[in-house]
Amino acid sequence: MLHKDAQSEQKCTTEAVLNKHELEPLQSDSTALKVREPINRRFSVAPMMDWTDAHCRYFLRLLSKRALLYSEMVTTGALLYGDSARFLRHAECEHPVALQLGGSNAEHLAACTKMAEQAGFDEVNLNVGCPSDRVQNNMIGACLMGHPQLVADCVKQMQDAVQIPVTVKHRIGINGRDSYAQLCDFIGTVHEAGCMSFTVHARIAILEGLSPKENRDIPPLRYDLAAQLTTDFPDLEFILNGGIKTLAECQQHLTTFDGVMLGREAYHNPWLLSEVDHQLFGDAQREITRTGVLEQLRPYIAEHIAQGGKATHITRHILGLAQGFPGARRFRQLLSADIYKTDEPLRIYDQAIAGLEGR
Ligand SMILES: Cc1cc2nc3c(=O)[nH]c(=O)nc-3n(C[C@H](O)[C@H](O)[C@H](O)COP(=O)(O)O)c2cc1C
Repeated sequence: MLHKDAQSEQKCTTEAVLNKHELEPLQSDSTALKVREPINRRFSVAPMMDWTDAHCRYFLRLLSKRALLYSEMVTTGALLYGDSARFLRHAECEHPVALQLGGSNAEHLAACTKMAEQAGFDEVNLNVGCPSDRVQNNMIGACLMGHPQLVADCVKQMQDAVQIPVTVKHRIGINGRDSYAQLCDFIGTVHEAGCMSFTVHARIAILEGLSPKENRDIPPLRYDLAAQLTTDFPDLEFILNGGIKTLAECQQHLTTFDGVMLGREAYHNPWLLSEVDHQLFGDAQREITRTGVLEQLRPYIAEHIAQGGKATHITRHILGLAQGFPGARRFRQLLSADIYKTDEPLRIYDQAIAGLEGR
């Protein structure tokens, strides 16, 4: 099972950051004690709605065995009353993989966290960063930064329901509640409820007047405030997120933070992940080429088509793979236009691979 392989590899070279809950012995049905492997959050790919679905994660896993992969945010309503099998589906090779939940009803969140654990996810993350109006109306996302005790109550019930770690992804504030003291109050309160790992999107969210997209660019990044948290809460794990584009920047931030999380750059330039295991985790360099990755992905696409799916459900996530090459435009053209017009998508896919020959 790749899950176990990846986790045992993980122990070999890099000092894994330990979460209190991950070290607790687990009581199995047979009453034998098992110790859960710690999750290494040194490098992760951010949760991104409509982007980091199971197909995307499958593809990204071909590039890095070590990156922790996050799902899109799933609301508790969608999981409890919708097509839960679809939201929980993931391949064995995706591990380590975390499910991100959106919600603020502690009982519902606890029930969903249990579902995620039973489905095999390695971690559940609570979204306290999404600024969209739609989610605010339902008390989901960044607006919860204004309700630390509610977040703490949710985290406590979630963590009490499972053995896997519950983590929180948040902003450094929201408009009207953006002082460092208020950020510390948030972290301290949520930590008391049992959260040991915080992923900090290092800008505030402006809840009125900016779109979610603008909220990812306009409020300035404040890495200094995120860094201050690591000094003021030395026992907690902090993962830095927001605006990171290169592995050199990752290396730099890893001198301060326990981990880095990349969103848009990982999606638009996925080849960056091919160096993560070597450069950030100290693994031996792997022989890996873009064409090799595409060939490995081919049977997965063929299987998806055989089950009635469309090749484009998968290929839409790989358009950035050729970024920076002379053939990149043709690659994108084939996979973003031509493949939609054909009834032989794998033939177009093979043409796209052939265009990258030797890369
Ligand atoms: C298309 C898109 C969808 C996103 N969806 C989510 C989400 O579901 N949950 C979440 O916590 N953040 C979401 N985000 C925010 C990212 O996780 C991340 O915090 C943000 O993009 C900043 O990181 P970056 O500069 O590395 O992209 C989304 C971002 C993008 C671009």
